[in-house]
Amino acid sequence: MKKTPFGEGPEYAIYPADLEEPYRARRSKVAKDMYALVGVARDDKAARARQMALNFSFFGAPVGMFISIDRTMGPPQFTDLGIFLQSVMLLARQHGLHTCAQEAWSLWGKSIREFTRIGEDQLVFCGLALGYANPKAAVNDLYTERVPVDGFAEFQGF
Ligand SMILES: Cc1cc2nc3c(=O)[nH]c(=O)nc-3n(C[C@H](O)[C@H](O)[C@H](O)COP(=O)(O)O)c2cc1C
Repeated sequence: MKKTPFGEGPEYAIYPADLEEPYRARRSKVAKDMYALVGVARDDKAARARQMALNFSFFGAPVGMFISIDRTMGPPQFTDLGIFLQSVMLLARQHGLHTCAQEAWSLWGKSIREFTRIGEDQLVFCGLALGYANPKAAVNDLYTERVPVDGFAEFQGF
């Protein structure tokens, strides 16, 4: 992993190569805020790589899950997968647990397929860390800003 921090190649494009505004700025802001919280400087590539590598121990969570989808599926079924994932995350909260969805695991699809013995027909979409958040860990103070409702919804009266 030290030699290949970006894994075996992504299972799918996590972001479009030419991510446009306003999405590009929003994505950068979350990363900037997170690295600031954990005290990693923007140009400290080694420290960034170390932070990234924490993904691959599920950030110390006692339970790690992999979520895969049949390769033949398209965007509507990826939406279903997202809805399913959110249900799992909400159920975890109902039981007092916390989760962290991790697309970073999609960089290691080949190894995950071998390890879990799921078939070649499965695309590894993400991992999901499950456990109790450590309130002392600075990273858990991250507040990811959301645009106000007016920023993505328009209400019309007819
Ligand atoms: C589908 C999905 C994949 C994600 N992948 C990662 C990841 O690989 N690594 C990571 O640190 N955060 C990842 N995140 C972000 C965190 O799971 C989480 O959303 C973030 O820490 C902010 O928390 P919040 O969504 O409660 O504001 C992902 C989020 C989603 C929804």
